[in-house]
Amino acid sequence: MSCGCAPLNRATLSIGICDGPLFPSHFCSAIRHGVSGIGNIVILTGAGISAESGLATFRGPDGLWEGHRVEDVCTPEALASDPVMVHRFYDARRAALADVEPNAAHAALAQLDAQWPGELLIVTQNVDDLHERAGAKRLLHMHGELRSALCAACGARRPWETPMLPANSAQGGFAAPQCSACDAHALRPDIVFFGEMPYQMERIEQAISRADLFVSIGTSGAVYPAAGFVRTARYRGARTLELNLDPSEGSIFFDETRLGPASELVPSWVEELLA
Ligand code: APR
Repeated sequence: MSCGCAPLNRATLSIGICDGPLFPSHFCSAIRHGVSGIGNIVILTGAGISAESGLATFRGPDGLWEGHRVEDVCTPEALASDPVMVHRFYDARRAALADVEPNAAHAALAQLDAQWPGELLIVTQNVDDLHERAGAKRLLHMHGELRSALCAACGARRPWETPMLPANSAQGGFAAPQCSACDAHALRPDIVFFGEMPYQMERIEQAISRADLFVSIGTSGAVYPAAGFVRTARYRGARTLELNLDPSEGSIFFDETRLGPASELVPSWVEELLA
């Protein structure tokens, strides 16, 4: 496909796109022009993409961390000292998945995943399953999944749909569910707790190192290593775009930031890209 412009390469692309919001149409046309130049895309998503489906974010008003201290429910120490509290917290979040549906932002990313000819990887920090339910395939959960259980003894992971906490659990009598791989009563929520290593970091870093375009959607940029991806992507020469309701802690690192609800920003961005 040629529009009469010189074939775009990474350097031309970054020069071709004047900085950010001043020239949105310029950016869009450069993207369209650049389709032949942009092959590989990495998309990072956070709690903001699921907010309009009715799932609380972490740090927003009424965020999850408003009602609970991170230390109480999202650390290995918390699981050791108060397993009932931790299991009750994740059992409630797992059960809540039955009451929500993917929104237009999830659907747009699933459409992009289905139609994008180049490499594409959706890296989500979210532990909900709304990306999958919208149909996304080229997807990985770097912080784990609510509908999965992890054996703290042997490391086995397996799908899990029901509460992990037996109904009448009291502190004293709590025994973790039994692992079918090693028989230990050591199953825990398959959530990457603070202080633990996220999943598939090598695969994420490889995808970012090959990315021509890095896009961040609905995340505050408050938690590493995800918050550092934009700088790695820039360093590797990728173009960077942020779609978020509010400016994030990492907005200064993006070539362009578009502010607004994901259910509006993401479908229009995907439409531009596929146009
Ligand atoms: N559309 C787009 N963005 C939104 C919307 C929306 N409808 N609603 C909220 N946002 C944005 C907010 O402006 C905020 O920047 O989503 C972001 C949510 O930020 P956090 O609550 O901090 O969630 P997240 O960035 O995903 O947290 C990262 O922290 O607590 C840990 O492991 C947890 O994965 C999580 C990580």
